[in-house]
Amino acid sequence: MKKRALITGITGQDGSYLAEYLVGLGYEVWGLMRRTSLDPMLRLESLVRKRRINIIYGNMHHASSLKAALEMSRPHEIYNLAAQSDVGISFFVPEETEDINYAGLKRLVDEAVRINPKVRIYQASTSEMYGKTLPPQNERSSFKPVSPYGKAKLRAHKTIVEAYRKRRGLYICSGILFNHESPRRGEHFVTRKIAISLAKIKLGLQKSFSLGNLNARRDWGYAGDYVRVMYAILQQEKPDDFVIATGESHTVREFVEAVARSLRMKIRWKGTGLREIAVDERGRTILRVDKKYYRPVEVNHLRGDSMKARRELGWKPTVSFDRLAAMMAQAELKRFRHMKSAV
Ligand code: GDD
Repeated sequence: MKKRALITGITGQDGSYLAEYLVGLGYEVWGLMRRTSLDPMLRLESLVRKRRINIIYGNMHHASSLKAALEMSRPHEIYNLAAQSDVGISFFVPEETEDINYAGLKRLVDEAVRINPKVRIYQASTSEMYGKTLPPQNERSSFKPVSPYGKAKLRAHKTIVEAYRKRRGLYICSGILFNHESPRRGEHFVTRKIAISLAKIKLGLQKSFSLGNLNARRDWGYAGDYVRVMYAILQQEKPDDFVIATGESHTVREFVEAVARSLRMKIRWKGTGLREIAVDERGRTILRVDKKYYRPVEVNHLRGDSMKARRELGWKPTVSFDRLAAMMAQAELKRFRHMKSAV
């Protein structure tokens, strides 16, 4: 019998990579999708066209739609990737963030175990839960979240994943994933925004762009590597939580430099703080700092220690920081070249 997996948030970056991975492993894959006016199928086009995955419309806000999706898909494994995943936006919509990121998981788990108490559940927890805790952060580090996003994810992690596992004996695990990127990353996240903007500037399609805090440090890995570990986490004999990270951190400024290197653009930094700019070889300003993109409270430095996952799951990242930046830069260059030649 084929194993069945239900992925919430299947239309996102991670959902699409995970769906491909599980289909490749022979799973029957079901995906929960919200009805929106945008084209959410973008990343799943080929899987849907070849009828390799099954889409169910549903919504993390409504227990009834989750119940229907669970009854239809009867999963052995559930991957909860659905979230209001934008940290910056969470300061503007804290209630919505809490309702999806915390209460959504509660609805999903409560319905799921009513149908099948033995179901295995993966929760997408996040390094944002560490907030102000100094690096390196691992499974024993304390959590000091500063954003509504981080707080809602921590509530889900503590009061559902940890508590249900301990008190009710459920098979439920958290992957505490540090930032993970790819050419499929949403366009408002900083790495993709940088790759798109610099590729367009390179091709003469745009003159400049703006960013917020250039000094924030993140531990950036490749999303394709990170979905493999979600699956591995659910195959362990006992449910447990794992930090997933590269162990290296870089500033936003360094990501700009790495993308520029890959695009063979020479840039120079001038000024400091809110006046900092980057200029190209002809002295033209291509990047400004804009206060608008600063967060009310920033997480300054995330760098994970994933020794436990390396030891117990045999997992390790395969894509370096420079290769990741180049992969994203070249994907955008190719895309915009194609678009340019099509007009
Ligand atoms: N988005 C964005 N846009 N971020 C900017 C910008 C900008 O113009 N300028 C500077 N930054 C800084 C942010 O302040 C932050 O410090 C850093 O770039 C990374 O921002 P994001 O790419 O938006 O990611 P994130 O770290 O806030 O959150 C991502 O990673 C988490 C794991 O730690 C998201 O994927 C979360 O959903 C995930 O949990």
